[in-house]
Amino acid sequence: MAQPVSSSPTATAPRHIAIIMDGNGRWAKQRSRPRTFGHSEGVEALRRTVEAAGELGVRYLTVFGFSTENWRRPVEEVNALFDLLRLYVAHDLDRLVKEGVRVHVIGSRERLQPDIARIIQDAEEKTRHNDAQHLIIAFNYGGQDEIARAARRVAEDVAAGKLTPQDVSIERFASYLDTADVPAPDLLIRTSGELRLSNFMLWQAAYTELVFVDVLWPDFDKAALQSAIDTYQRRERRYGGAEAEQP
Ligand code: FPP
Repeated sequence: MAQPVSSSPTATAPRHIAIIMDGNGRWAKQRSRPRTFGHSEGVEALRRTVEAAGELGVRYLTVFGFSTENWRRPVEEVNALFDLLRLYVAHDLDRLVKEGVRVHVIGSRERLQPDIARIIQDAEEKTRHNDAQHLIIAFNYGGQDEIARAARRVAEDVAAGKLTPQDVSIERFASYLDTADVPAPDLLIRTSGELRLSNFMLWQAAYTELVFVDVLWPDFDKAALQSAIDTYQRRERRYGGAEAEQP
């Protein structure tokens, strides 16, 4: 478990950390290797981070694996990212099941090849009863797309008479998002020095603490995770209020 920092306003470990795993391409370029090599090493960093998050008492970990905008990349790179998801699930699912990790995949299932959709469904199904740790993989995910899909379903339910427009509160709307059963992230980390959200968890990050680190994703490790948590623990979370309080 993470050691609480007693003098800190946010002394506990963040319950939910979301990560934009950025910098794979630059990491590979520095080594004169193809970008896809950076993505494969990125999977090793993902494995390390899932393990480290568990050890540090972080119950929910969300990672941005493939965005709705990543389709604009060369087809070879898109295919390599899909292959990495296939390999990751093939190699790691049994261990995740045994270690009590529940896998959720957020994002649009449209455009996904049928075998990928099946792999995702299988991973979610096999880990459905796990609760020790939650790994949320954002794949074919965009925050704007997620909100638009949720709005469409709300509109359908209103049209079907299941909801009235007055029923559409913040809480009710959130229950239509892909993250309906996941708490909002406390801490969002982006690696590689870029200072953007890039369409990641736009609704959920309303009061998330943002930490940007220069390390390129394939180099990310437990020490880097701990350092980001330390930064988070020095923050005072006010949620729009005048002093530290829980929402
Ligand atoms: C951003 O780095 C990273 C991605 C677009 C993909 C992240 C994917 C992985 C880490 C592979 C593992 C994923 C799963 C779900 C198994 P970039 O390529 O934009 O780096 P650059 O900005 O240096 O070019």
